[in-house]
Amino acid sequence: MDNLAGIILAAGEGTRMKSRLPKVLHRLCGKELLRYPVELLGKLGVESIVVVVSPSNQDAVKALLGDSVQYAVQQARTGTAGAVEAASSVTVRGARDIVVMGGDSPLVTEDSVRELVEGHIEGGRQMSILSGLVQDGHGLGRISRDTGSQQGVNAIIEYTDDAARAGQTVEVNSGVYCFQADWLWANLGQVAAGGSPERYLTDLAGIASRQGDLVAAQPVDDSVEVLGINNRVELAHLEDIQRRRIRERLMLEGVTITNPSSVMIDDGVVIGQDTVVLPNTMLLGRTVIGSGCEIGPGSVIRDSAIGNDCRVTSSAMEEAVMESGVDVGPFSHLRPGAYLESGVHIGNYVEVKESRFAAGAVMGHFGYIGDASIGSNVNVGAGTVTCNYDGREKHRSVVESGAFIGCDTLLVAPVTVGAAAVTGAGAVVTKDVPAARLAVGVPARILDRRTGPN
Ligand code: UD1
Ligand code: MG
Repeated sequence: MDNLAGIILAAGEGTRMKSRLPKVLHRLCGKELLRYPVELLGKLGVESIVVVVSPSNQDAVKALLGDSVQYAVQQARTGTAGAVEAASSVTVRGARDIVVMGGDSPLVTEDSVRELVEGHIEGGRQMSILSGLVQDGHGLGRISRDTGSQQGVNAIIEYTDDAARAGQTVEVNSGVYCFQADWLWANLGQVAAGGSPERYLTDLAGIASRQGDLVAAQPVDDSVEVLGINNRVELAHLEDIQRRRIRERLMLEGVTITNPSSVMIDDGVVIGQDTVVLPNTMLLGRTVIGSGCEIGPGSVIRDSAIGNDCRVTSSAMEEAVMESGVDVGPFSHLRPGAYLESGVHIGNYVEVKESRFAAGAVMGHFGYIGDASIGSNVNVGAGTVTCNYDGREKHRSVVESGAFIGCDTLLVAPVTVGAAAVTGAGAVVTKDVPAARLAVGVPARILDRRTGPN
């Protein structure tokens, strides 16, 4: 959208969160609250975005958003009007209209803001307010309208001044506005302080109405969009709503989710068609899952990539990768740097960290593989452990393709087991095993395979 700038208000103290973390950095479905309006304005094509920060949260906010936006610092707690004023020196002067939004209303949609801006421009208005109809509207400003046939907006009345709403349906202010830029800067100074040092941006509705300027409120279709987050109860409530939206979108795209309310999927997780997500599963962060997989029950997967036709049963994965046709679990743990190539089978009680299993390698039972490279079609027996840490440093283990690691083998790294070599049950392998040889005992001795037990 041309000639449109954005201001995001994020300088409030957020005292009702009772937190050391700034309110706008709390997460909803894995994403910081402040990223919702920033990404929304980005999708609308708004190039110049000013985020208003406070002296106390500016470092944290800048660390999150970097130079994707500009910043203005609101030095004192002068309310939402003061926050917009702080942005005036930074906001591009060329912009004809300005969208102003709070940093604490993550459910508002791109479509609603686009319609607000379109209505604002078509109507030649000075001020447009995104509103919604809700029960009681606890904590939110109410849109006051004329009783005449036009039902024009004549003010926004803050909740504190207007407590007698219990049980009523009221039209409330979402905290998203579109202003004609010149009008905004010319009139902001008229907003007076009430009893407190906070000056309310919402007073501009009454000012516009009294001056005969064009002000209107446009209700959203789905009133949950207007809900804001001021405390952790509201955070949990809105997260529930957003999680349901995410699940429903994925289901409509072809993902089966059984017992949806028990499944938690972060914003931004990608899942392919015909994948089935079973109960009590959490799919978090930047996770990408292919098609035809079965995930869960009870799997927790964070920042991981899973190919097609994989199965992850009651297992945990973080920063791990599996190609296609891999199955894991139940009760295994793929930690950062685990990489399983196609057709790998990992059974129960296996922990893998910073290790690659080549195609077709199997490890069906309990054990630990860390800092290792397991060749193709290797069979790793139950109880195998890579002793990767000597108390000072980590060392690597290498098992070449086609090797057979007997049950309870300890691979004391650094060590290499050659291609098609075998280790006997209980072997403590402290030296390299050449290809096609047999290692047995404690510490392991190297034998020819034909003299060995198999
Ligand atoms: C505000 C609106 C209310 C609306 C609601 C929607 C005002 C006076 N009231 O109330 O009509 O229904 O949002 O959620 O605007 N902020 C600053 N600097 C400040 C104060 C606030 O940047 O000095 C920021 C906050 O970080 C927040 C946003 O402005 O992102 C809204 O402030 P908040 O204190 O949450 O206002 P509400 O009480 O929710
Ligand atoms: Mg708020």
